[in-house]
Amino acid sequence: MAFNVAFLSTLLILSVVFSPGNALSLNYYDKTCPTAESIVTNTVKTATSRDKTVPAALLRMHFHDCFIRGCDGSILLNSKGNNKAEKDAPPNGSLHAFFVIDSAKKQIESVCPGVVSCADILAFAARDAVVLSGGPTWDVPKGRKDGRTSRASETTSLPAPTFNISQLQQNFRLRGLSMDDLAALLGAHTLGFAHCSSFESRIYPQNSDPTLNPTFADRLRSLCPVNHKAKNLGSANDPSPTTFDNTYYRLLLQQKSLFHSDQALLTNPKTKGLVYKFASSHKAFTEAFVHSIIKLSSITGGQEVRKDCRVVN
Ligand code: HEM
Ligand SMILES: *[C@@H]1O[C@H](CO)[C@@H](O)[C@H](O)[C@H]1NC(C)=O
Ligand SMILES: *[C@@H]1O[C@H](CO)[C@@H](O)[C@H](O)[C@H]1NC(C)=O
Repeated sequence: MAFNVAFLSTLLILSVVFSPGNALSLNYYDKTCPTAESIVTNTVKTATSRDKTVPAALLRMHFHDCFIRGCDGSILLNSKGNNKAEKDAPPNGSLHAFFVIDSAKKQIESVCPGVVSCADILAFAARDAVVLSGGPTWDVPKGRKDGRTSRASETTSLPAPTFNISQLQQNFRLRGLSMDDLAALLGAHTLGFAHCSSFESRIYPQNSDPTLNPTFADRLRSLCPVNHKAKNLGSANDPSPTTFDNTYYRLLLQQKSLFHSDQALLTNPKTKGLVYKFASSHKAFTEAFVHSIIKLSSITGGQEVRKDCRVVN
């Protein structure tokens, strides 16, 4: 039985990672650009030493990239002519740190031009972001291609913070991701920051969300006063927003999570069980996270290796 489960999940991973058409492999750049990965790691390190918000931004950027047209660097493309790109659509909230990818790409192009895709660079950077924040590491499957299309309108297919569990489940299923993946990947909300607009509907009018801890709701209202005009107000995702740990799950159980979509994990027996498991075991969380982020980052979709991550060839 145990053998069967392990065997089946191995098959599943293999079939995702090595799906025909756009085969990913761990040694993809061994001959053509062996230094690519360490260039990215060093670039993310330097950027993080100057700006602590970089890791969260890179992890979220990779997630958004993979959820639209697969992990194909579509999030990195600039708007052009009358085509408004993904990065210029409303859910771009805290998307930033594009300069990190540009900088790594430039260095990589100078040693092995035209070989390493922007989508792969972003996948490396997301892994490095987790590691630099004290989280687990993993081998990133490589060989993604960059896409040629990025449309702001397609960002409406991203999950919204107002989603309930069935909407989240459906949204993930469309990308081949399960409820287990949902529960594990949302742990990424241990990092970073959210603007008031992302959770305001839970705190105004007062008591609009009975699932929110009242003291915590008061705190959020003090961070986001009614009719505030400042665009940059908001809250850290958890009290240690630069540390990748399982605090997210422990706070969730105290009804102190920012989004309705986070709290929704407690409304389904399966995801609720996983929240309890991850809250009590950092190891169980990080193992599940690694399994699921490899699945997420192995959704492919591109066609070329871009020369400049902001424009198609
Ligand atoms: C499942 C549904 C998800 C929803 C509805 C969601 C929603 C959000 C929202 C609304 C924000 C705040 C944006 C802002 O106000 O600036 C945010 C931040 C963030 N999300 Fe998610 N997210 C989801 C899944 C994920 C996943 C799968 C990951 C990564 C694996 C992720 C990583 C992050 C990170 C790291 C931040 C902080 C970004 C920063 O500080 O720059 N999220 N998310
Ligand atoms: C986000 O989108 C708005 C338009 O919807 C745009 O003005 C803004 O520059 C974008 N932000 C980033 C960081 O790209
Ligand atoms: C989730 O929201 C959708 C759309 O509003 C609704 O049709 C559905 O019944 C809701 N599901 C649950 C479990 O609340």
